[in-house]
Amino acid sequence: MPAALVGALVDGRPNYLTIAYCGAVNHEPPIISVGLNKKHYTNRGIKENGTFSLNIPSADMVKITDYCGLVSGHRVDKSNIFKTFYGSLKTAPLIEECPLSLECRVVQVLELAMQNVYLGQVIQAYAEDRFLTNGLPDIKKMNPIVFSMHDNNYWTVGEHLGRAWSIGKELKAGLGGAR
Ligand SMILES: Cc1cc2nc3c(=O)[nH]c(=O)nc-3n(C[C@H](O)[C@H](O)[C@H](O)COP(=O)(O)O)c2cc1C
Repeated sequence: MPAALVGALVDGRPNYLTIAYCGAVNHEPPIISVGLNKKHYTNRGIKENGTFSLNIPSADMVKITDYCGLVSGHRVDKSNIFKTFYGSLKTAPLIEECPLSLECRVVQVLELAMQNVYLGQVIQAYAEDRFLTNGLPDIKKMNPIVFSMHDNNYWTVGEHLGRAWSIGKELKAGLGGAR
């Protein structure tokens, strides 16, 4: 799973929590989902403002990423642990240190048993040039953190396996497929 950081403005102060339950759910418009346990402090900010950020930390941020998942904004002020910036939505705090930050507006909330699942339309994506190749995010340059749930370990991304929508083509002759 990814290890990512969700940001929200709670009572006028940025708060960040670590998250593994997240992913892309719609291509156009771009919509992502984040699943937050209902007890977490961050929920309040997302509900108040209808905005949040999803930030992808790099491997060298593993300690501060873990820290954000260990302490709650209910008890500890996490507003100054990162350099925060804001985009056009003004209420979604974004993390300057992260290679990729997505600024999101809530379009739907699913209330599940334990989690609030926020569906957020990505209004803007922010990345510095040094993390891009040909204008696109480069996974090796970003060096994101991979989280192995249940055994509770962090890893980096491994070796390149092949090109997507391409490496499977050679099986078409034997296994079939007209497309
Ligand atoms: C690696 C890792 C992954 C986590 N993933 C999630 C998650 O997907 N959803 C969630 O609600 N909490 C998750 N947590 C727990 C929250 O980050 C943690 O309870 C945090 O302190 C809540 O912060 P808040 O109360 O300031 O919002 C995760 C924690 C860690 C360390």
